Amino acid sequence: MSRPVVAFTRQYFPDTAAPLADRADLRLSPADEALDAAGILRHVAGCGAAVATTGCPFNASVIDQLPELRLIANVGVGYNNIDVVAATRRGIMVTNTPDVLTESTADMAWALLLAAGRRIGDSERWLRDGQWNRWAIDLWLGADLHGTTLGIVGMGRIGRAIARRAKGFGMNVIYHNRRALPPGEDEGARWADKAELLSTADHVILVVPYSADTHHIIGAAELAAMKPTAVLVNIGRGGLVDDVALAQALQSGQIASAGLDVFENEPRIHPDLLAAPNAVLTPHIGSATFRTRRAMCDLAVANVTDWLDGKPPRTLVNKDVLPA
Ligand code: 8YV
Repeated sequence: MSRPVVAFTRQYFPDTAAPLADRADLRLSPADEALDAAGILRHVAGCGAAVATTGCPFNASVIDQLPELRLIANVGVGYNNIDVVAATRRGIMVTNTPDVLTESTADMAWALLLAAGRRIGDSERWLRDGQWNRWAIDLWLGADLHGTTLGIVGMGRIGRAIARRAKGFGMNVIYHNRRALPPGEDEGARWADKAELLSTADHVILVVPYSADTHHIIGAAELAAMKPTAVLVNIGRGGLVDDVALAQALQSGQIASAGLDVFENEPRIHPDLLAAPNAVLTPHIGSATFRTRRAMCDLAVANVTDWLDGKPPRTLVNKDVLPA
């Protein structure tokens, strides 16, 4: 009987695939570039499983052209790169890597909030540029975070981890989710509708999954509703924010600053965001710690191992794909 074939759509850590080597033929990625649809079709054709990243578009058309595929193991908690409905229809299991990245990503949300609020990016550039020649009472004044109200849009695992950290800063936390969480799961935060959250929060963090429903949940109208002293952090996905509207709001002073780890057309960044000194921009590194990225790869591979063992993968997203 022929061995199953597992494709890796990117290069991961050198030994990431090692646990599978005795059990499957491995089709490793020759180059570390995000594959587009045509690239996926070429590389994954004939494979039973694919280890992917959130940059690989497994859309319905791609999925329909990969009849042997049984599992897409995404390295990432988000899986908006995969048409899960189409995958389920074809009997393809989809897995992600929740939990292992929660705390690191929450840390990064705070790094961005602190950096944007306290103007670490623009003041550091100014210092390196040799412009610091005297102390002044009003040198690089920024926003207080302690004692203010934090608004979290998306109170899932990462949102709750962000809220836990806010307690240490003595912050009042409000959040917006489709539904209010039961007491005991809300980290002491209060549910607010989106309009109330935007107008009352001193600072706003977005950590909601991207979908057609959440496309541009922050656009010109929402930015206008925020406080002019507010910091906006996006640690969720590009596309949650209308980047053009945000660049305008930063430029006009409609909001004070932004900390952004994700962008609409990443890795291409809108030039007006690049030009905005009051934006702290990072290259989608929310989960990028040595330990966490390793754990994400290991979990994705563990899902493949489960599939090879004939077991339901441990972090299966589309549980309805399993026989009843
Ligand atoms: C990943 C992420 O690093 O988990 C996610 O959803 O956005 C990041 O943690 C990235 O998606 C790589 O696939």
